[in-house]
Amino acid sequence: MNILAIETSCDETGMALLHAEGGLRAPKLSVLMNLVASQIPIHRPFGGVVPNLAKREHLKNLPVLYRKMFGSGPRAARLWKKINLVTVTVGPGLEPALWTGIEFAKQLSREHKKMLVGANHLEGHLYSFLLPAEKKLITNHQSPIGHIFPAIALIVSGGHTALLRVESFSKWRRLGETRDDAAGEAFDKVARLLDLPYPGGPEIEKLANTGGPGAIFFPRPMLHEKNYDFSFSGLKTAVLYFMKENVDANKADVAASFQQAAIDVLVMKTMRAVRQYNAKSVILCGGVAANKKLRDDLRVAAKEIGVSFFAPQTAYNFDNAAMIGAAGYFTVLRKKIYRLSAQGTLDI
Ligand code: KG4
Ligand code: ZN
Repeated sequence: MNILAIETSCDETGMALLHAEGGLRAPKLSVLMNLVASQIPIHRPFGGVVPNLAKREHLKNLPVLYRKMFGSGPRAARLWKKINLVTVTVGPGLEPALWTGIEFAKQLSREHKKMLVGANHLEGHLYSFLLPAEKKLITNHQSPIGHIFPAIALIVSGGHTALLRVESFSKWRRLGETRDDAAGEAFDKVARLLDLPYPGGPEIEKLANTGGPGAIFFPRPMLHEKNYDFSFSGLKTAVLYFMKENVDANKADVAASFQQAAIDVLVMKTMRAVRQYNAKSVILCGGVAANKKLRDDLRVAAKEIGVSFFAPQTAYNFDNAAMIGAAGYFTVLRKKIYRLSAQGTLDI
């Protein structure tokens, strides 16, 4: 099946073309084209994503990406002939932004008479570890399904932090989530305290590389509570007070110590779930999964107890349409139906 996927839930406009086969038991995905137009420079002066600016930029970018992918005339017609499915993110995300993609996808599916399904952005992150580098066909031979499930998946992005117990490509249960700030949000807020630009995650990571992770003690919220929820706002407040009381503090030490505190909680709770549920693998995904220290710490922890570790290729950590193509494919296989309207708080 050939899939055209569209993503506009936040500040990246994405359009991708995928080939998917193999079904729920042996999915094989190949990314034929993955286009992303980033809006980061536009939102940066505001220190975060401005929904109406995002909407305006998506409206501008969607036709540009479409022309880049389809060209015009016979090439477009040839490509459309091969496409079987159009899929678009319907949530969660910023509703004005989501609507732009949904309307664009509806128009295309009407015009070219193709099936259209809504996709869940968080499911996109969850499946993103299956995506191969562009123009390569990956088969699941490196990770036979029996070596993946049951899995514990940690989704860490700017808007979400969730821990799932995943039984298969169609069945999972949420074990816990954040009670306040998402992990990425905590990185972004602490970055602001350190006068670093938006998005803060990569900036904190860069600065942390020159600091000491054990230089300052910051709390590890909810580490010892017997649930799988997270809380990051107390950690951010601890950094705020520390900065107020230590105006000459070495910012690299603050960044490294904060980063380590956040990572310790994420890794320890994930690994506790792995042990409790006898999982065969750990799946790490979402924008914060781009953090090398988090990937390394979680990979090492998984290796220590002999479970596999999966994380997406770098390009697929961040919001992109290729992962939405994967989510759309599995949505069809699962016979799940998402309403074709913006659902800002859609859950996984
Ligand atoms: O998944 P994503 O691209 O968008 C959402 O769906 O939210 O995640 C964006 C988040 C931002 O909060 C950003 O600061 C964070 O991911 N992030 C990082 C890193 N790169 C991006 N956080 C920590 N370390 C990084 N290297
Ligand atoms: Zn995302």
